[in-house]
Amino acid sequence: DWTMTNYIEDQIKKIREKVGDGKALCALSGGVDSSVVAALVSKAIGKQLTCVFVDHGLMRKNEGDEVETIFDGFFDSHFVRANAQERFLMKLKGITDPEAKRKTIGEEFIRVFEDEAKKIGKVEYLVQGTIYPDVIESGLGDSAVIKSHHNVGGLPSVVDFEELIEPLRLLFKDEVRQMGMELGLPENLVWRQPFPGPGLGIRVIGEVTDDKLEILREADAIFREEIASAGLDRSINQYFAVITDVRSVGVMGDFRTYDYTVALRGVTTTDFMTADWARIPYDVLDRVSVRIVNEVKHVNRIVYDVTSKPPATIEWE
Ligand code: XMP
Repeated sequence: DWTMTNYIEDQIKKIREKVGDGKALCALSGGVDSSVVAALVSKAIGKQLTCVFVDHGLMRKNEGDEVETIFDGFFDSHFVRANAQERFLMKLKGITDPEAKRKTIGEEFIRVFEDEAKKIGKVEYLVQGTIYPDVIESGLGDSAVIKSHHNVGGLPSVVDFEELIEPLRLLFKDEVRQMGMELGLPENLVWRQPFPGPGLGIRVIGEVTDDKLEILREADAIFREEIASAGLDRSINQYFAVITDVRSVGVMGDFRTYDYTVALRGVTTTDFMTADWARIPYDVLDRVSVRIVNEVKHVNRIVYDVTSKPPATIEWE
């Protein structure tokens, strides 16, 4: 009968048969799907798999190190962290248009991945964390179709490989999480909220700079901490901070300040196609606000986003 344990065993067997003594490559983003597929394939073929984690410097606080700790320490495959923070910042310099940012980040991602792939040499298989809803979304059952909305879309044209490995193709998100738990991935990774491919690049309004990223990472970490300690981290489906390009006047002690406005966003949703703004209790919002203005330099105003989707989107860009 069908159990996740049997399913995992079965997939491992299939992956081993398919790969033989070949080599496989996988792009690891730190998200749920790519982490679970990396863990599964790693269990199947160990050192024949190389996971490339492109660190674009647009991750949340400590996230890059967490990914490295889990995959470099815990799994038997090769792990490569491409430290491309500088490259991405250079490319993003002066760009303020949201779509241009997305495009720039997506293209640079492919370029960095390609550079790493070249160092590894010939690989026969590319591992992808495509899940069932992605298959439906793309409208095709063809295994050669790469989900176009994904940040690694376009990879096949630049990385030379013969076949895709997509062992999550038949699974829904909750089953992917279940598999992740069975494979021993940490609970906070398995239950991670969705995080966009372009990362914090689309949560920094206006030009993306090192300074704004640093402010955002700190503010966002405080928001997440307080939501978790209020026990709301499973009931609010996605929540994050945005650093706006607005600065406003404030007062701190005897001094006038002129600093950034940080916006908080929290939504409840089942499919992320529509969403309602989360009714976070005022006292929780208050704690977050007080902490951010006290602990994060150059922020003097906090606002909470009370628009649903539609007409607003979940992200601000
Ligand atoms: P929006 O902002 O369109 O977001 O309401 C819906 C969901 O999709 C995520 N999102 C993205 N995910 N690449 C991704 O992988 C992207 O470019 C992207 N843009 C938005 C967003 O975080 C939300 O969960």
